[in-house]
Amino acid sequence: MDIKPLVQSAVDAYGRAYAPYSRFQVGAAVETDDGRIFAGCNVENAAYPEGTCAEAGAIAAMVMAGGRHIRRVVVCGGGDAACTPCGGCRQKIREFGAPQTPVTMVSPSGTVRLVRTLAELLPDSFGPDNLR
Ligand code: THU
Repeated sequence: MDIKPLVQSAVDAYGRAYAPYSRFQVGAAVETDDGRIFAGCNVENAAYPEGTCAEAGAIAAMVMAGGRHIRRVVVCGGGDAACTPCGGCRQKIREFGAPQTPVTMVSPSGTVRLVRTLAELLPDSFGPDNLR
């Protein structure tokens, strides 16, 4: 399936980021197994640790809409390097993804910079199965 709409959603979300402190905008979009797309941006806070990541916003929107399975993820961030998900967000994706779930990192213009599977980003991960 075409990844362009998912990339566009992440790029659009990047444009809505609220990042006055770090000045580092991030957008993320997740696609569910039934093809729905949910996006989020980072939302910072004057009390710095209370800010939230783009991936967290996208996943919260997905869960609110009843989504439980992530098919793929796109993260859009600036800078010279690919904006890879932070450690906490890798774990959040892990909750609803699979080892082979692709995570694509794109530039603010939508150019693909890096593609990794979730297992590559978070090897030997702890997940829901550990609690069964
Ligand atoms: N950020 C994200 O939104 N997602 C990531 O995976 C990496 C970091 C945000 C958090 C903070 O608002 C800014 O980028 C700088 O760390």
